[in-house]
Amino acid sequence: MFRKSRIENRKSNSAHIPVMLDETLQALAVGPGGRYIDGTVGAGGHARAILELAAPGGQLLGFDADPNSLKTASRNLMGFEGSYLLVNQNFDTMEAVARANDFYPVHGIVLDLGLASMQLSESGRGFSFQYDAPLDMRFSPDQKLTATEIINTYAESEIADILWRYGEERFSRKIARRIIETRPIKTTTELASLIARTIGRGGDIHPATRTFQALRIAVNEELTKLESTLEQATRLLGFDGRLVVISYHSLEDRIVKQFMQQESTDCICPADLPECRCGHAARLRILNKKVVTPSEDELQANPRSRSAKLRAAERILSREEAGTLEDHFFLSERNTRVARYGLEAGIPNNLSELAEFACTAPSGPVRRRAAM
Ligand SMILES: C[S@@+](CC[C@H](N)C(=O)[O-])C[C@H]1O[C@@H](n2cnc3c(N)ncnc32)[C@H](O)[C@@H]1O
Repeated sequence: MFRKSRIENRKSNSAHIPVMLDETLQALAVGPGGRYIDGTVGAGGHARAILELAAPGGQLLGFDADPNSLKTASRNLMGFEGSYLLVNQNFDTMEAVARANDFYPVHGIVLDLGLASMQLSESGRGFSFQYDAPLDMRFSPDQKLTATEIINTYAESEIADILWRYGEERFSRKIARRIIETRPIKTTTELASLIARTIGRGGDIHPATRTFQALRIAVNEELTKLESTLEQATRLLGFDGRLVVISYHSLEDRIVKQFMQQESTDCICPADLPECRCGHAARLRILNKKVVTPSEDELQANPRSRSAKLRAAERILSREEAGTLEDHFFLSERNTRVARYGLEAGIPNNLSELAEFACTAPSGPVRRRAAM
């Protein structure tokens, strides 16, 4: 369970209300002087709250592929100049940028995936079928591929495959066939009404929802970039650092869940192998076995949060890593002493479990961090 935190009334100071803010800050265990990465700065809602709680001395490195989002974020981060750096790049450049700026190890990394509501309504972006616009769907104007190109040049089987894989659209073939027969198709409205005519209305969601999701994922290569970034994030976290991911559809959530499960398991060999051959060592500890979803109050106040799912994990030190990692992997001197002591004594390798043994640790008592 999440403890109600001291950020209760901070939300009202912020122009943008971010999704699951309390839960995110608590999962990140934000504290004064911490170093954080926000991979999806958006309007800067989470970023601002992190900097507020990390004061004095907190620092934030923020990414967004969309230059318009960063303009909004800069306005929202007013007053924190000098404590943050915003980078207009895809989050899959995270490790390279963090290392180039000597911004590691970090205490926490947050990814709040998908789109900000302002992007949905922005004219000309083509993310939503509720606004008539060219079929663009790029997060960044620097990207080459657009949804128009997919719809108007890809083969029928390629379109069907995209709709099936990234939209889990059961009428993928039927829609792809109709697209090929009808194209050129240039706008969101043309595509949405073609889909409605092809598969009919009915059900809880608009018939074009899955197709639009699929095209956006394909245009921005969202799933492969997410996989790569989770791996990079794990390498950037210091001992005891936290990774928090909020996702908005099942394909993203599955990737996050499977990644965290795999990275919190020592051996990942097939179950029928008599002995371990992979040599895989856990680097994470899952903080919430059950996925966290928005409270009733939040759902009332912000219906856009309804599909949000939060997963969080903490970086641990595997025995295999103990000799190879440099001291700067540890986020504080206390961490170094306690982790090394724990490993030598054969005690589990994360701070909260080590706290059980704190009275015997040479570094003195260890305070237990907020439980999730
Ligand atoms: C849901 S919004 C984030 C909102 C933000 N947490 C806030 O509180 O204002 C997601 C943002 O991440 C950006 N984004 C999504 N995927 C990205 C990626 N792969 N690389 C960089 N930015 C990305 C989008 O452009 C968007 O601005």
